[in-house]
Amino acid sequence: MTTEVRSRIVGTGSYKGEGVLTNHDLEQMLDTTDDWITERTGIKERRVVSKKIVTSDMAAHALGQALDMAGLEPNDLDMIICGTVTPDRPLPATAAYVQKKLGASNHCASFDVAAACAGFIYGMSIADVFIRTQKAKRVGVIGVELLSRVLDYTDRNTCVLFGDGAGAAVLVADESDRGILSTHTYTDGSLTELLIIPAGGSVMPTTPNTAAERLHYVRMEGREVFRYAVRYLSEAARTALKANNMTNDDVSLVVAHQANIRILDGVAKRVDIPLDRFVLNIERFGNTSSASIPLALDEAVRGNLVKSDDILLMIALGGGISWGSALIKW
Ligand code: COA
Repeated sequence: MTTEVRSRIVGTGSYKGEGVLTNHDLEQMLDTTDDWITERTGIKERRVVSKKIVTSDMAAHALGQALDMAGLEPNDLDMIICGTVTPDRPLPATAAYVQKKLGASNHCASFDVAAACAGFIYGMSIADVFIRTQKAKRVGVIGVELLSRVLDYTDRNTCVLFGDGAGAAVLVADESDRGILSTHTYTDGSLTELLIIPAGGSVMPTTPNTAAERLHYVRMEGREVFRYAVRYLSEAARTALKANNMTNDDVSLVVAHQANIRILDGVAKRVDIPLDRFVLNIERFGNTSSASIPLALDEAVRGNLVKSDDILLMIALGGGISWGSALIKW
């Protein structure tokens, strides 16, 4: 009889950066108020890293911390998956820079996943398939975004929402009943235009005009994204629980993408899990896209909020529109 192999998270890490941009700072920069941002989003401040830091620095720091917690070396990894939509460069993958910066010399497969705010869930889902099929034993999964480099700080519809950050987890093959129980990933490609960076790709290659017209910055139909977020995240949560014959009562902790406290409140009500069972750090970090879940997870783990055998529900949604879930027995 073959034993079932699961992927278990044995280390987490993060990079938070030191620069803090508060709502009061933003009041000085554009037509907004601390009251509006706090009431409409739950965000009070976000991190903006210094100009000398690049995405792979943040990612390598986070994964390095996760490896330390796991008691593993960079060369122990069979694979590095980096969820990001703010890579170091269009070519090569940021994960390749992370491998170099960590000093891993074992040629482990290292690649990026561009699923926006769902990037970490997508990365975990891919890692889980490689581990379950025994093609990898130890995988580093990162969610990292340096969004301050692609935000238009004259556009109050977007710049107040997002911040920089990185988080990571080390997943290892495990034959106990603990680990990732399921992952589900989805994309609704009819909604691509709701959250985009218009220029810099093949549709609109970089020209002096694209730069002058500020087409290299994030643009978003916030109200529409909000609507889909509440609906699809709630559906994803229900599907994950049903697939594992569980109910809302079984969930110890929800580690959800931190986009807007009102989105989380809407999901909490729809799936009937009180908001006090959600890990919440949106007030301090804003929306850090793919970094959001691993950053929240690392804070929860280091704050001893997660105990053995706890059931963790992870849900995220972002540009694409792409979304997904992971259900984990800790
Ligand atoms: N400060 C002050 N006023 C602002 C503002 C800001 N930073 N941003 C927008 N407003 C204004 C709008 O211009 C609008 O004014 P109008 O009524 O005169 O046109 C008004 O506030 C209401 O705008 P609206 O877009 O309806 O607000 P909202 O309640 O939907 O909140 C978001 C806007 C962006 C906070 C919300 O839609 C949201 O969080 N969406 C999801 C975004 C997200 O997280 N996406 C990432 C992927 S998950």
